[in-house]
Order: sequence, then structure tokens, then C-alpha cells
Amino acid sequence: MPIYRKPDIIHYYRILVCFLLAGIVFACSGLKEKDEIKIGFSQGMTTDDWRKQMNKSMRLEASLHDNVELTILDANDDVEKQVKDIETLIGNQSDILIISPIQSRPVTAIVEKSIKAGIPVIVIDRKIENESYTAYIGADNIEVGRNAGRYIASNTSGKGKEIKIVEIKGLKGSSPAYERSLGFNQIVNRFDHLEVVASVDGNWERESVKAPLEEILAQKPQIDYVFCHNDRMALSAWETAREKGVENRIGFIGVDGLNTLNGGIQLVQDKVLQATIFYPTGGNEAIKLALKILKGEPVSKNNILSTTVIDSVNADIMKNQLDKIDRQQASIENQLQKLSEQEKKYATQTNLIKILIFFLVLILSLALYSIYSTYIIGKKKKLLELQSEKITLQQNEIEKITGQEFRTRLDTIIEQHLDNPQFTVEELARKLNLSRVQLYRKIKGMCGISVNEYISGIRLEKSREMLRKTSLNIAEIAYACGFSSPNYFSTSFKNKYGITPKEYKNNP
Ligand code: FRU
Repeated sequence: MPIYRKPDIIHYYRILVCFLLAGIVFACSGLKEKDEIKIGFSQGMTTDDWRKQMNKSMRLEASLHDNVELTILDANDDVEKQVKDIETLIGNQSDILIISPIQSRPVTAIVEKSIKAGIPVIVIDRKIENESYTAYIGADNIEVGRNAGRYIASNTSGKGKEIKIVEIKGLKGSSPAYERSLGFNQIVNRFDHLEVVASVDGNWERESVKAPLEEILAQKPQIDYVFCHNDRMALSAWETAREKGVENRIGFIGVDGLNTLNGGIQLVQDKVLQATIFYPTGGNEAIKLALKILKGEPVSKNNILSTTVIDSVNADIMKNQLDKIDRQQASIENQLQKLSEQEKKYATQTNLIKILIFFLVLILSLALYSIYSTYIIGKKKKLLELQSEKITLQQNEIEKITGQEFRTRLDTIIEQHLDNPQFTVEELARKLNLSRVQLYRKIKGMCGISVNEYISGIRLEKSREMLRKTSLNIAEIAYACGFSSPNYFSTSFKNKYGITPKEYKNNP
């Protein structure tokens, strides 16, 4: 008998799962892109155009690298928030931090902490109290101050006049305020005809200028120059002077030189400012520097961006140049926008293809599984057919045996009552433990005759045997075989065998 092993459903199920997994893996292949780079930028504030431009140029540069994720947190000019922002960026697993501190001291400790945690820090524009950062990027603010001093000096030398200057500084505690003042005063102190007659601690914003300048103008009406640490404060200083009607006899110098509406370049062109010292934001350079550091390329600790004086001589040229750069940037932004739309389309299509592949693999797996199942079911069916055939044979055998047994018992009982013509069908059935009807059905089924016909068949068979083997006469045999009279016996015998008992006895 062939050994039949039960089909292991779990085994097939495993095959199916493998197919599905393979499909999913295939469908998902290519999902993982190159390693993501997380750049966290803590911006001191974003209220003014210079900061907005810094953020914009950072975003633009970051978007040129599709694996760079740039997060900008704005501290809103709040030093405590800035520390928290930096902590958040560290917690977000930034690969590198860029920080433009509001003031130097409050962020120094957190920069050190970040460096200790293995996250490099680029300080941009404003510095911290020590040099624990990875790199600094920005223009040289001492040089910015010196440029402003040199500009005033060269415009006033040889005029034989004592030049009185007001210096309006940036926020105390922020490094550009300190350094611009340092550089400016280094130059002023070199020239006898230059004198800083008043120095104001501003806060980089317009409102910090008006009241103190009004007071100065009231006490010292002969002011020749106002040097403000940025253009916003310089515009406010000019407006304050104009209110007093003295704006035309004072030269205003600012810093930043933005090419925006009311930016330094326009103020120079509009003759509001005599000059502005160009102070680049360094946004895109900071991102480039960050990527270099992460790649392990050598970088300088101090990355100094160039600065220059913008006055009526070069304002137009500068504007043209910067306009050109702005246009190029706008076109890059436009192209990036289009590219990202294309990317979205591509991603949707790719996802669709992945889903299709997944279903294809699923259908294929199911088809294979169903082919396999059909094969197994066919095999099982054949085996069952064989088994059932065998069972039928065995059943027939059993029926045969039991039928023979029954017949022997039946014949024995009839033979035991052979000489009794009163032996009834009911009595026979009782002795066989059957009902009359059951007995009738069984005999009918076995031989196709009634019970009475069967009994009389046995009687006649026995009588024939006795005629052959004994010397008893016809009447004796008739009674011995349960016939009520010799005549009835003779008639029944002739009916069955075609000859009379007498003829048979004489010639058996
Ligand atoms: C912008 C600004 C500039 C200035 C710089 C100094 O927030 O105030 O105007 O040059 O910061 O850090």
C-alpha cells in the first residue's frame, strides 16, 4: 500500500507567506533613499529682512540636496527660548547645528554641551563667549566697523574741520555690536579730526534709536555723522534727524546693504544713507559648510565672508549684481518647485507600480497554491476511491458469510421441524429472532421466493433424498417430511420435479 503523507497545510502556508514577503520586499525595494542629513538651525529672530534672507538662502541651498532636512527654530529674540530651541534640536537627533545667537553668553554652555554630545556646531553672524564651536561663519565685524571708520575718515580728511560722530550700537552682549564698535573706534582714534561725541546702546531695532538720538541732537546740535550698526537703525536715525530738519547736514552710515525695498542699497540710492557696509547673511554658505563638516572634509575654524562699502559710487553696480543673483535664485527656486512636482508625480506612479507588483505576486502565489491544492486533493480522492472499493469488497464478503450462516441456521430449524405439517412461518421467524416481515424480506432477497415456498422446497428436497437413500414407503416419507397427506406430497413432488415420487424411487 503506498504511504500517504497528510499534506502539511502549515508548510504550504509558509510557501505562500514567503511568496508574499518576497513580493513586498520587491515592491518596497528602492524605498530607502540615501542617508538623511538633519540640519538644525536656531535662528535668533526673524522679524527683519536680513534674517528672512538668511533663512531663505539656507532653505534654498538645503533644497538643492535631496537628502538634507533643514529645521529652523525661531527664538523670537528671547534668549531663554533660544536655549530651549537648541535643546530641542539636539533632542531631535540633528546631525549638525547652526546657531545665530541673540547674545553670546546665554548660548555658550549649550553649544559646549552639543559639542560634547558629538553634534558639531556652526556659529553664524553672532559669536558665543568662547571658541568651543566647530566653526564660525560670517563677515569680520571688526572689519565692518573699520570700514565705516575709514569711510568717514576719507570723506572728511583735509577739510580742516572737527568731525563729531554719534555711534548707535547693536544689542549689548551680541558680538557684532562689540566688534563693530571696536573696529570703528580703532580707526576713529587714529584721526585727530574725528571724535565720537556720543555712543548709544541700541538693540538692532528702529525703536531703540529715536529717543536717545533726539536727546543727543538737543544737547549737541553740531553732529556730522551718525554711524549705526545696521541700516534699520540708520533709517530710524535719519527719520529722527529729519523731524528736526537736520538730516541734510548729517551723514548717515549703516550696515547690512540689503538689496530689498528700503534695504541699505536703496537707502544709499535715495541719498538717505551716505554709505552702508555690506554684511552678507552667509545662509547658503553655512549649509555648504555644514555638509563639508559632516563629510569629514577639512574646514577652517573661522570662515570669513567678504564685506565692502556701498555708497553712491557703487550702489547701482551692486544693485545690478545682486538683482542678477536674485533672478538666478528665483529661477533655481522655480526649477526646484517644478522638480518637486515631478517628483510627487513620479512617487505616485512608483507607488502604483509597487501596489500592482504586490497584487501580481499575491495572485501568482494564490494561483500556485491552488494548483498545488488541486494536485493534493486529486491524490487524496484517488486514495479514497481505492479505500472505498476495498471496503465494498470486504462488505460483500461479510454479507456472503453472514448470508450463508443465516441459511444454515434457517435450514437446520426447518429440518428439525420437518415432520410437523403445522410448523408455521411465525414459529420459524420467532426461532430466528426475526419478525414475520423481516423473515419474508430476507428469504425473498436471498432466493426470490416466499417463506412457505422455501419451507416446502426444503421438504421436497429432503423427501427426494429419502426416496433415494431409505427403504421407507411413499406415505412414510410424505409424513416424515411434513406433508399432510401422501396425495398432496405426490402432487407437490410432481409439480417440482416433473415426475411422481413413485417413479423417482424406482428410477432416481
Ligand atoms: C539682523 C541684524 C542685522 C545685523 C545683524 C547683526 O537681525 O540685526 O541687521 O547686521 O543682525 O547680528
